[in-house]
Amino acid sequence: MRTLTGIQPSGTLHIGNYFGAMRPAIEAQARGECFYFIADYHSMTTVTDPEERRRHTLGVALDWLACGLDPARSVFWRQSDVPEVTELAWILGTLTPMGLLERAHSYKDKTARGISPNFGLFAYPVLMAADILLYDTRRVPVGRDQKQHLEMTRDIAIKFNQTYGETLVVPEAEIREDLAVIPGLDGQKMSKSYGNTIDLFGDEKVLRKRIMGIVMDSRPPAEPKPDADRNLAVQLLRLFAPPDVARDFEDRLRAGGLGYGDLKKALFEHYWSTFAAARARRAELAANRDHVEAVLRDGAERARKVAREVLGRVRRASGLE
Ligand code: ADP
Ligand code: TRP
Repeated sequence: MRTLTGIQPSGTLHIGNYFGAMRPAIEAQARGECFYFIADYHSMTTVTDPEERRRHTLGVALDWLACGLDPARSVFWRQSDVPEVTELAWILGTLTPMGLLERAHSYKDKTARGISPNFGLFAYPVLMAADILLYDTRRVPVGRDQKQHLEMTRDIAIKFNQTYGETLVVPEAEIREDLAVIPGLDGQKMSKSYGNTIDLFGDEKVLRKRIMGIVMDSRPPAEPKPDADRNLAVQLLRLFAPPDVARDFEDRLRAGGLGYGDLKKALFEHYWSTFAAARARRAELAANRDHVEAVLRDGAERARKVAREVLGRVRRASGLE
């Protein structure tokens, strides 16, 4: 049972990404074969600064390896190191109805936000289908926002099989509805596009300042707070502190006597220590880029073996060979 997912190198990862996507993906390694890749071709649809792409590609690789992606167990590579995916995307594109792409929410959302549409952005779901189908993938864990892309992938695979005979594995989406949406510093969903994130890794001073800067109401410390369970710092503290510690802070806030400053200080300390081991590993990896490059290159080689086999099947079925 092969699990596959892609991560765009389009920004600095935050704790919403960690709890919503990375931790479940890392845990999935214990249950079967995992294929994880950095979707650098996809990032080209919105990012056009080469330095930015290089920086985020390295950053995302370091983040995942530091957080526990195990290259001995899983296959981890850079999408563009397996260029077979673009050939498959072309072939699939010829079977993809225009209407299907025109209905894509993510395309409509992105253009509504002012991103000027290019062919790549329009064809994004076809390349994503190729990412998945090229590796005979069974399961694709993604956030709810990617559900439609997975449905399109299934439609395209079925269409290929109907047109050219049973060739491609039709995958299942694994949408984690159970995963809470991690709130950002303003209480909305944490997202890099809202500027309300707590980064997973970064400078201690900057991050301390961000957490200490969370805006609270003006009730004095002594006043009891019956709404303590909805306090943002308490909600975030639950992610990082042992349950009894988080509950103790919540109780003290409810009873009155705990100042917001002390609560935020505790939040920072627990957040900081949660990622202490990963931070140390990340620093080691960052000082050893050759190793990171070697991991990605080895991953690409392993991925490519599967890719060549599946593409061979596709080429033979469709009469290219
Ligand atoms: P962003 O909203 O910051 O641009 P992405 O859309 O790149 O994040 O999301 C990458 C992954 O992280 C997706 O699987 C998404 O579901 C998950 N994710 C992003 N933000 C959150 C959040 N606030 N809570 C839980 N999961 C999140
Ligand atoms: N579109 C996904 C996102 O923005 C990234 C992605 C690209 C992906 N190719 C994929 C996810 C294949 C799963 C499978 O989050």
